[in-house]
Amino acid sequence: VSRYINTHFPKARVAIVTDSNVNKAHGDALRHALNNAHITIEIPAGETSKSFAMLEFVVDKLLEAKCERGDVLLAIGGGVVGDLAGFAASIMKRGMNFVQIPTSLLAQVDSSVGGKTGINTKRGKNLVGAFMQPKAVFIDITMLKTLPPREFKAGYAEVVKYGLINDKAFFEWLETNHTAVFSMSENGKAALIHAISTACQAKADIVSRDETEQGERALLNLGHTFGHALEADCQYNPARIIHGEAVSIGMVLAFRFSSKLGLCDVSVANRVEAHLKTTGLPTKLRDIKGLGTPEELLSAMMQDKKVSRGQLNLILATGIGESFIAKNIDCDKVLAFLHEEATR
Ligand SMILES: NC(=O)c1ccc[n+]([C@@H]2O[C@H](COP(=O)([O-])OP(=O)(O)OC[C@H]3O[C@@H](n4cnc5c(N)ncnc54)[C@H](O)[C@@H]3O)[C@@H](O)[C@H]2O)c1
Ligand SMILES: [Zn+2]
Repeated sequence: VSRYINTHFPKARVAIVTDSNVNKAHGDALRHALNNAHITIEIPAGETSKSFAMLEFVVDKLLEAKCERGDVLLAIGGGVVGDLAGFAASIMKRGMNFVQIPTSLLAQVDSSVGGKTGINTKRGKNLVGAFMQPKAVFIDITMLKTLPPREFKAGYAEVVKYGLINDKAFFEWLETNHTAVFSMSENGKAALIHAISTACQAKADIVSRDETEQGERALLNLGHTFGHALEADCQYNPARIIHGEAVSIGMVLAFRFSSKLGLCDVSVANRVEAHLKTTGLPTKLRDIKGLGTPEELLSAMMQDKKVSRGQLNLILATGIGESFIAKNIDCDKVLAFLHEEATR
């Protein structure tokens, strides 16, 4: 990283944005490696940091440090740090250089690729933000050694997502190799790298064809409209649910709803569920204690930003690796489906 920065931005000062956990685990080592780091801005770990208040805090620290457009904002952390810091970089003097070192599996395979940045508001998640492509992203799997296992698992749900969207062979590879991917051993290294690089490539391919989500990019939301409703219903309380867990349940719901509509056989949905369950991910509504009613979940789904002019669009599938954008879904059907799922 320091060689890259010295080569491409030789005069730049480096402002690190990181969170409390990552700073503790990796901050000193990284600052040591980046002997040109100018300041470190630490935010509290957790989703609640993706807020207007924290955005103001980060921008204020950058201004206080007299950062210029040619300086480098280096985000070191999970998706929360990447989304918040990237948004701050996009509005700092109308855009400063943005570089990322994603440290969670989710950030390595998803949030650090594609240039979406943003924050949450009291009206919902990721409702305010900007497209801001990083100048570079550095992925180091050794960062994951300090990641809590529950977070690793949640990130794995997003890895599985790419197989489900359009790459059946990758899904099958994961079915065979997931133990190695999870092992964190020397032997598992190659499998983990293969999983991460396949996922990054899959996302990059889709994003490069449709950067601003006019069409195909929406496929990346497989499981997310259901999932976001679950997260909202749990008030984004990580003790109850975290993003990848919600996506895991959401993907199973998307396949089960697809099978209910006759788009695919129920055995397809069962196979998706079986794989996610093997890794210990939650896969059904009842895995989350104290969820709201189906009516409340549907209303949360309607708040999701993928809703266009009151019409519910969902990513559904005719098979593993065969997803598509289904428009104008009948909400009554979704509600009836959620009622069934609530007791499953
Ligand atoms: N921009 C996008 O395209 C995009 C895509 C997907 C998700 N997201 C966003 O990403 C966020 C979720 O990202 P996340 O799951 O990385 O959450 P996160 O950033 O909150 O990280 C999860 C937890 O792991 C800790 N952590 C991260 N790396 C660590 C490490 N190496 N060692 C020890 N602890 C570590 C963090 O401090 C945090 O407590 C959500 O806000 C979501 O909306 C954005
Ligand atoms: Zn996601």
